[in-house]
Amino acid sequence: MLLAVHGGAGERKPDKNALKKLSESLASGYTILRNSGTAVDAVIESIMVLENSGIFNAGAGGNLQFDGVRRLDASIMEGKKLRAGSVIGIEGIRNPIKVAQLIMDSPHVTLTHIGAKKIADKNNLDLLPEPDKKSLEKLRKTKKKERKLVNIFKQYFSTVGAVALDMYGNLAAGASTGGIPAMLPGRVGDTPIIGAGIYAENSAGAIACSGIGENIIRLSLAKEICMNLKNMTPYKAAMLSLRRLSKIGGEAGVIVINKKGQFAIIHTTKYMASGYAHKKSIVVKEGFKRILPVF
Ligand code: GLY
Repeated sequence: MLLAVHGGAGERKPDKNALKKLSESLASGYTILRNSGTAVDAVIESIMVLENSGIFNAGAGGNLQFDGVRRLDASIMEGKKLRAGSVIGIEGIRNPIKVAQLIMDSPHVTLTHIGAKKIADKNNLDLLPEPDKKSLEKLRKTKKKERKLVNIFKQYFSTVGAVALDMYGNLAAGASTGGIPAMLPGRVGDTPIIGAGIYAENSAGAIACSGIGENIIRLSLAKEICMNLKNMTPYKAAMLSLRRLSKIGGEAGVIVINKKGQFAIIHTTKYMASGYAHKKSIVVKEGFKRILPVF
């Protein structure tokens, strides 16, 4: 059994609170695995802890789009039957990852706000208050500085994600985000795109990505790494795809686990707040293995 989580890849050093919250998230998620729970439930639990914290770019802490609205994305996938659920641009809901899970259990795979909100309301999911003054002020400053959307690559993205292997040999991957620091209304990144931001298949592995979604989508990064895993270690599989991503100008970090429980946490960015839980140990760091971008 193994659980790995991340709190985003980027250029800004993650603070102590973020690392502490990642430990809490790993502890909660791993308790589920230890008590014979499923990889899906462990991933959902870990991500909910991070969404609720308000200190990551997900759930209560999600970035605002340029019109001042917080539109959140999330996804979940399980590797046994390749069931998946994702939500695009949901507003006013604290835990988009729960919405993604409910969508996975519906006949659909991906819903935008209009249908997803109906499912969330029907299931009495917790609501998110309107953005406070502080978030609106932060957006005002970002808009002033990033009007042309050129400097978004130099920041700490803090999308959150998790991958898990449970005692039944099942894998799962999930992710949740408020997008990137500066974005036009309606922008969608990699997180809710199955195969881009996440992927899971029991015969290979499970992957969750963080970084600039635009480039991750162009490479279907998670799916590509998953295919590599069929005949490579997680380290090599991730390395190869991240190098390809760098060549098209992408910056990202990934957490990767294979069916044997081997895993890798690799990023092209300076930092990727992340960690893993295995047996009795929980390890969290501001970054693991960095590979330098090849341009
Ligand atoms: N990786 C998160 C996003 O681009 O939206």
